[in-house]
Amino acid sequence: MLQKQERQRWQFWVKRVTVGCLLISVPLFYALSTIQINFDTTELPVPLSCAPRPGQSSSSSRQYTNSSQKDNNVCAPKVDIMFMKTHKTASSTFINILLRFGEKLNLKFAFPKSRNDFFYPSSFQRTYVDAYKSGTCFNIMCNHMRFNAPEVAKVLPRDTFYITILRDPAELFESSFHYFGHVVPLTWWITGEDKMAEFLRDPKHYFSPDGFNSFYLKNLLFFDLGQDNTLDADDPHVEKRIRVIAERFDLVMLMEHFEESLILFKDSVCWQMDDILFFKLNSRMKSTIPKLTPELRAKALQWNSIDWKLYKHFNLTFWKKVEAYGRKHMEDDVAELRRRNAELVKLCIEGGHSVEAASIHDAAMQPWQPIGEKSIEGYNLNKNVNKANEEMCRKMLIPELQYLTDLGVNLWLTKLWGRVRKIINW
Ligand SMILES: *[C@@H]1O[C@H](CO)[C@@H](O)[C@H](O)[C@H]1NC(C)=O
Ligand SMILES: *[C@@H]1O[C@H](CO)[C@@H](O)[C@H](O)[C@H]1NC(C)=O
Repeated sequence: MLQKQERQRWQFWVKRVTVGCLLISVPLFYALSTIQINFDTTELPVPLSCAPRPGQSSSSSRQYTNSSQKDNNVCAPKVDIMFMKTHKTASSTFINILLRFGEKLNLKFAFPKSRNDFFYPSSFQRTYVDAYKSGTCFNIMCNHMRFNAPEVAKVLPRDTFYITILRDPAELFESSFHYFGHVVPLTWWITGEDKMAEFLRDPKHYFSPDGFNSFYLKNLLFFDLGQDNTLDADDPHVEKRIRVIAERFDLVMLMEHFEESLILFKDSVCWQMDDILFFKLNSRMKSTIPKLTPELRAKALQWNSIDWKLYKHFNLTFWKKVEAYGRKHMEDDVAELRRRNAELVKLCIEGGHSVEAASIHDAAMQPWQPIGEKSIEGYNLNKNVNKANEEMCRKMLIPELQYLTDLGVNLWLTKLWGRVRKIINW
């Protein structure tokens, strides 16, 4: 009995040390692999637009605008998109929409190299982009990064549409604590059944701004957007930075109103309903999502008060946009989107719903899991789907890492980490 406990303790620490070593060695590897690129200092201006020129458009993009559209004088679909992918905000579902759109129109993605993010949490640098060369025309950038506006602007055309997504900060905190808690060492010493509740009881006691990965647990949205997440919420810089963010982003979506967000997006970039159909990806099993008590919620908002300010600011602008779009118009479009999505669920998904990891038949459809559990659900492709639709269904259901691999992104570091986790069974 005692021996078993000893062994478990021992395994537990081996896991943590392994993670620690990996987390440290990865930046080192990375620094080594980018050294030569930093020597390249000649700089060309980014092009105004990377839209396919008339005459050189591929056949798939010609099909895209049909004649009745032109008669109606509908604007041309925008193809230059910067999606600032925030954490735990349904951004995996949105990225799938962008990947499908870009693949269909043969657009050029600015992808990361060796892993599925731009070396997060380092501040974004253009040299993090795979095959980046000054003057290259990229259309879409959509992987996780810590936003850094001047560097992003050097990669994408000047008329790029900037977009991001926010989520209620209390829910986001809960989700982040659940998903990333294991890689934030300062949570390792929190005792008790409910670590999050204990943390929120006295966050200042547990939190340290210098703690490794500690940004996952405080104003994560503000951090992802490239800001200082440890500022005092009343610091005048906070308001100022929120204004800067508002100026930079053409649209800030809200996870709680994902469908309305998509309609606003589609309207802003002149896409069609077909382009924004989606299945919810990378979502957590309902049973593993605790309902926040009003008390915990209040504490979480208090603790993440910059994110709360940010959220309230963009909630206001969001509903102003909905107002301008027309409430009724929006209602109708959301109903249409839901109807079309429901049709696709019937067509593509076995059983018509997501399933837990153990019930996914095809290994290629397994989503990435948080450390220490299997709480993220995935899908089984409907076996009866006909050949014509199978490819579309598969692209809509496939988890992000597999889709990126299909698009030619080299994820060796991410995959290595996956293997190590398998070996140490974590
Ligand atoms: C062309 O576009 C219009 C407007 O989006 C749509 O209603 C119509 O069904 C499309 N026609 C074809 C042939 O795809
Ligand atoms: C968001 O805005 C709507 C409409 O103005 C309002 O009813 C709602 O209370 C706001 N939510 C937050 C969290 O500020």
